[in-house]
Amino acid sequence: MFNDITFTKERPIYLQIKDYIKEMILKGMLQKDLKLPSTRELSHLLNVSRNTVMLACQYLEDEGFIYTLKGKGAFISNVQIKYQDTRHIDWTQKINQYTQLAEDLDIMKHGVKWEKGMISFTSIAPDETLFDVEDFKRAFLNRISLEGEKLLNYGYARGYLPLIQYLTRYMENKGVDIEGKDVLITNGFTEGLNILLSALTEKGDRILCENPTHNTAIKIMKMHGLEIVGIPVEEDGPDMKQLKDKLAEQDVKLAFLVPSYHNPTGIVMSPEKRMEAFNILQQYEVPIIEDGFNEELRYSGSHVSPIIALSGKGNSVIYTGSFSKILFPGLRIGWIVADKRLIDYLESIKRSRNIHTSSIDQAVLYEYLQAGYFERYLRRVRKIYREKYEFALKCARAHIPCKKILGEGGLHIFVELDEIHARELLEKCYHKGVIFTPGDRFYTDDNGKNAIRLGFSRVQKKDIEKGFAIIGEVIENWRSIKKRE
Ligand SMILES: Cc1ncc(COP(=O)(O)O)c(C=O)c1O
Repeated sequence: MFNDITFTKERPIYLQIKDYIKEMILKGMLQKDLKLPSTRELSHLLNVSRNTVMLACQYLEDEGFIYTLKGKGAFISNVQIKYQDTRHIDWTQKINQYTQLAEDLDIMKHGVKWEKGMISFTSIAPDETLFDVEDFKRAFLNRISLEGEKLLNYGYARGYLPLIQYLTRYMENKGVDIEGKDVLITNGFTEGLNILLSALTEKGDRILCENPTHNTAIKIMKMHGLEIVGIPVEEDGPDMKQLKDKLAEQDVKLAFLVPSYHNPTGIVMSPEKRMEAFNILQQYEVPIIEDGFNEELRYSGSHVSPIIALSGKGNSVIYTGSFSKILFPGLRIGWIVADKRLIDYLESIKRSRNIHTSSIDQAVLYEYLQAGYFERYLRRVRKIYREKYEFALKCARAHIPCKKILGEGGLHIFVELDEIHARELLEKCYHKGVIFTPGDRFYTDDNGKNAIRLGFSRVQKKDIEKGFAIIGEVIENWRSIKKRE
């Protein structure tokens, strides 16, 4: 005993001694009222200074693991030793339907796994090597030195006020009439949509969305027990005839639309279609949840206003924003802009879920935005992403035999293949060290079997070319085998 301890450099020695003795007490190796060796003996045994041992003992006493008797030394307290429970609960039998659904729909668990050396087109996260960490550090230090104490305490469910005010102006600059509207800060879009569906839907309600659409949104809708009504997507946005027909056929509670650099297709809904969709949904009194997650990644063409800007002083459009693609997804910061009364309700849900989004994260982001680092960063990365996007498009056209390539910007392209099933293609490409996301993941029905999404943001140009060439070769091989059959 005491001679099997090995110290690491990462933690103070006195705390490692404290942890070691604590562990022995908890394992029952040091029993109640047993006398500990004296601090002198321990310092000798452990080859550390006596002060170090005394400090460790003070912490053990503070935590109630030992007690000292004046002139007699330190003794082990009456600690409730870990009860060795031998019963075994089968948690698979205990989970509810909600959990089972979450697990079934968790593509991170069920998708193909990246292995070292593979070229992966599965991610549409930003390229972290482009992050300006120095600017972020400056923003962090500035904000912490200005109001560190306040930020480390509880904040407000609605969000950090300066960030709310910044985002209010930011939305006004997108043409949004902010009168009668408010902002709620969320943990990214994902929490925003979850809160909105919790507030506005009941199990069995119908929700309308583009088909295909963002896989996480499909998962959230399903987990709320909603019936999803998918509207096929054309090259300039959803098919308006289908939208009208579906609305005429059935009652729909909400519409979820991703008008800019739609995931997975990369399509930008035309200004005309935005207006038309808005008018049709108004006519049927269906509120719109507009996901503006990628709007800032515009590479060409003129600015297209978000749908919420078209609604003027009206309150039927709810806008969800996110910094996950245009800045740092690790911050998990998004926002909702909606009618004041609605935000008031959402605030209560937010508070009941997680009290508020991390104040430090919000405040540092505010500092970063306020200092102009965001615009500078965006200007730089937009150029790089545009170049990569054009390169990816060129390589896809050159190498991947297909029916159609979609995508007007953002961090991915969407390819509709001729005959080969995307899952079969993926399996074959996997063996050649290339992976991507099969299109059916994004469909609300059985469609998308012949489509693939290729995220390029984190792939180097030479690997984009190599990876696309491999996909192309696999398709050509498959075709020649089919011809011979
Ligand atoms: C359509 C869409 N909306 C929003 C997001 C961002 O979600 P979050 O803010 O939760 O990271 C994504 C990310 O892939 C997305 O594809």
